[in-house]
Amino acid sequence: MLILIDDADVTKIKELYAKYPYDGVTTNPTILSKTGNPDPMDQLKKIQSVIPKDAMLHAQVLSTETEDMVREARHMVSVLGENTYIKVPVTANGLKAIDILAKEGISVTATAVYGVMPAFMAAKAGAKFLAPYVNRLDNLGYDGVQIAKDIHTMIKASGYETEVLGASFKNSQQVLEMGKFGIGVVTVNPDTLKSLALNQVAEKAVQDFIQDFEECCGAGKTMLDF
Ligand code: G3P
Repeated sequence: MLILIDDADVTKIKELYAKYPYDGVTTNPTILSKTGNPDPMDQLKKIQSVIPKDAMLHAQVLSTETEDMVREARHMVSVLGENTYIKVPVTANGLKAIDILAKEGISVTATAVYGVMPAFMAAKAGAKFLAPYVNRLDNLGYDGVQIAKDIHTMIKASGYETEVLGASFKNSQQVLEMGKFGIGVVTVNPDTLKSLALNQVAEKAVQDFIQDFEECCGAGKTMLDF
């Protein structure tokens, strides 16, 4: 399962990459606005400068009319390069834009996915990734994890190469469920990413090992001392 960072803060992205290997970064207009940078292309280029060249960068169009979405997506690819995945919301106009962009060879991530059928239609239109908003679905009274799984099942049953890119997670359990089901990609905010690898029991076990070792071999000793 590929793991992307759902944030646009360059410092946070650098910190995260320094600790673990990730597969890229996703942004949306809200995430970009939180950086305070009034030039989103500048911010996206800054992100590109701190992630590996082959890492994915996902950025979203703001337009709501099909033709405008298409023009905006072409512009974003021309500025940011071809390894940019253009996020297009799954509205009626968005679905048509996905179809046009996919035929041009532009990589599209269908975003704001709030149901199985809209996701399936976006796959049919040629989207490479489908981003169901797991936690936002939960907050609407639906089962976000189950909807992400149902999308995965349906697109695989239909033979599409499109992958689910699970988004909007509040906790590591939701992410775990994606991985157990074979979902291809998740994008996770920095706080939840930290919780993925945090294991208090493992930390305690290490402290116990050190204590036992030091009682026998001396305080502060490691294998390097022998
Ligand atoms: O980037 C889209 C999605 O990840 C939004 O997440 O936390 O705003 O629901 P959130």
